[in-house]
Amino acid sequence: MRVRKVVIPVAGWGTRSLPASKNIPKEMLPVYDKPVIQHVVEEAVRAGIRDVVFVTSRNKAVIGDHFDYNLQLEEVLTKAGKAALLRKVRDTAEMIDVIEVRQKKQLGLGHAVLCTRAAVGNEPFAVMVGDDFITGDGAGLEQLVQAAEKYNMPVVGVMEVPADRIDRYGMVKGDEIADGIFRISEMVEKPAVGTTDAKLAIVGRYVLPSDIFDYLDTSEPGHGGELQLTDSLAALAKDRGMLAVRMKGIRFDAGDWVDYLCANIFFGLQDESLRAALREKLQRLALI
Ligand code: UTP
Repeated sequence: MRVRKVVIPVAGWGTRSLPASKNIPKEMLPVYDKPVIQHVVEEAVRAGIRDVVFVTSRNKAVIGDHFDYNLQLEEVLTKAGKAALLRKVRDTAEMIDVIEVRQKKQLGLGHAVLCTRAAVGNEPFAVMVGDDFITGDGAGLEQLVQAAEKYNMPVVGVMEVPADRIDRYGMVKGDEIADGIFRISEMVEKPAVGTTDAKLAIVGRYVLPSDIFDYLDTSEPGHGGELQLTDSLAALAKDRGMLAVRMKGIRFDAGDWVDYLCANIFFGLQDESLRAALREKLQRLALI
């Protein structure tokens, strides 16, 4: 199974990120010096994928623009001799090829993926949610793509979550067939706390065959009246089998304020030119 395309839905309202996301997509909020969506896209690029299908909505054009040239800005930076900044700005335009697909009503993640049927066509593809990213060597989507290619099966990315948080995720159970790779035997969307001993949560990374569109097309709205991707995944897993890959690395959900704020500090501390001053200020404010 060769994966060339990734679908990244970015059409949601971002209500948890208001008022910051009133006029700026939450996917464009900065995590240190890059918008959230660039962290997501760089994870896809590390997995060897450069064809990106963004599922957008009104006021999200700025996301596509971020991955395009800004020739006027490039001229200003060239004239000012700011070569390092010029490279960074140009790199974002050259890292991926973009297709934009419109989701006209925000009917859920499953619906967002269904909107890409014509753009994806008849080949396996990856899905990444646009507000969630994983950092770490070889961590994240790369692990899923490798497993899908090796076993020729659909794959979801999972992480262990505390038992009192399982009601926020699609949860899976399965037999471990290789280190960190599970053959899924059970999948349930947002189970009530205490109703399952499943510990592995699906966290926004998938490699799927194009058959998933048939399942989505005939699926009924589920939890919250939205077309849930997990409902179609569960049906596909039952019919064809599916793997779960336990992802390494650190995951940040930028739609959650604690994760978002931690991500900013985490990436700030990675930058040697900032580290000492940032630590000193955090200490002075008695924050660490
Ligand atoms: P979320 O549920 O985290 O995003 O969906 P949201 O609905 O925008 O945010 P809140 O919960 O109101 O704060 C994960 C990803 O799926 C996209 C979102 O843009 C986000 O990147 N999404 C969600 C869509 O593209 N379409 C939808 O109908 C729902």
